[in-house]
Amino acid sequence: MSGRLQFDTETSRIIESLYLTPDVVAQQRQVLTALALREGERVLDIGSGPGLLAHDMAASVGRDGRVCGIDISEDMLAMSRKRWRRSTLDRIPEGRHNQPTLPG
Ligand SMILES: C[S@@+](CC[C@H](N)C(=O)[O-])C[C@H]1O[C@@H](n2cnc3c(N)ncnc32)[C@H](O)[C@@H]1O
Repeated sequence: MSGRLQFDTETSRIIESLYLTPDVVAQQRQVLTALALREGERVLDIGSGPGLLAHDMAASVGRDGRVCGIDISEDMLAMSRKRWRRSTLDRIPEGRHNQPTLPG
């Protein structure tokens, strides 16, 4: 056992529901404000999780911008891709799986 938290389907679902609570939604809004993204910018979201912030960042950078979310967990990526597919954005984020080469 590595001691690393496993972001499997069940854990991913729990994290996603936490990320939809008013406190976390407000915190993500602050992050988005602090980033002050502009149209056309490119963003790499390392550990993009359920993809909520990546989705909002994609809205900020517009159709000429690009957001790529990478995550160690396939379950998290599957969850974010599902969210992004339901989106009405012109250009949705891309999601990629990465090996755990970044510190967990
Ligand atoms: C709490 S979530 C982050 C949510 C996201 N940043 C947001 O604000 O919506 C943390 C994520 O980091 C990912 N993660 C942990 N270690 C990682 C690593 N070494 N490389 C890539 N992703 C990693 C996990 O799988 C998990 O989805």
